[in-house]
Amino acid sequence: MTKVAVFASGSGSNFENIAQRVQDGRLNNIEITALYVDHDDAYAIQRAEKLDIPVHITLPKTFNSKKEYEQQLLKLLKEEDVEWIVLAGYMRLIGADLLDAYERRILNIHPALLPKYKGIDAIGQAYESGDKVTGTTVHFVDSGMDTGEIIEQSQCDIYPDDTKEQLEDRIKHLEYELYPKVIANIIR
Ligand code: GRF
Repeated sequence: MTKVAVFASGSGSNFENIAQRVQDGRLNNIEITALYVDHDDAYAIQRAEKLDIPVHITLPKTFNSKKEYEQQLLKLLKEEDVEWIVLAGYMRLIGADLLDAYERRILNIHPALLPKYKGIDAIGQAYESGDKVTGTTVHFVDSGMDTGEIIEQSQCDIYPDDTKEQLEDRIKHLEYELYPKVIANIIR
């Protein structure tokens, strides 16, 4: 089993979905060493505690630079022999040191059909656009924001009478199927 760290900043529902599948055996190529969070109030922490998964809370503001913050992450990752990193709502760009250490071994999921609607509030951007379809994308992480090589996408309709919340819910459900599927296929 490949050792994976999941990085999150907020709610953590994708983290929980992946972790649950690992625990019930539906996802059996990985082991989650820990959840890594950059906010001490991230709801993801509570989800990890319920699932008995260790949590590392590392607060960027307690370091002098992004480099020092990421060096601390690298130290933890090394201690746990982490081989791949799965970003699940981690709201930071990955810096050079982490990218070098995990080249083509960091995945992200983004709630739009990239290259459309990069960055924050991708669902809102699609909702306001008048597009009839949107979806979600899993991609390798590079130094840009949501710019890495695309691995796989799932799409759904945007209905004329959708609320943004309904659309968000539809996309989340696509994510709960797509991310575990890509993790199963890509992570070795
Ligand atoms: C997901 O929609 C993901 O695509 C994006 O951030 C959101 C995280 O949601 N990168 P959650 O914290 O997993 O509920």
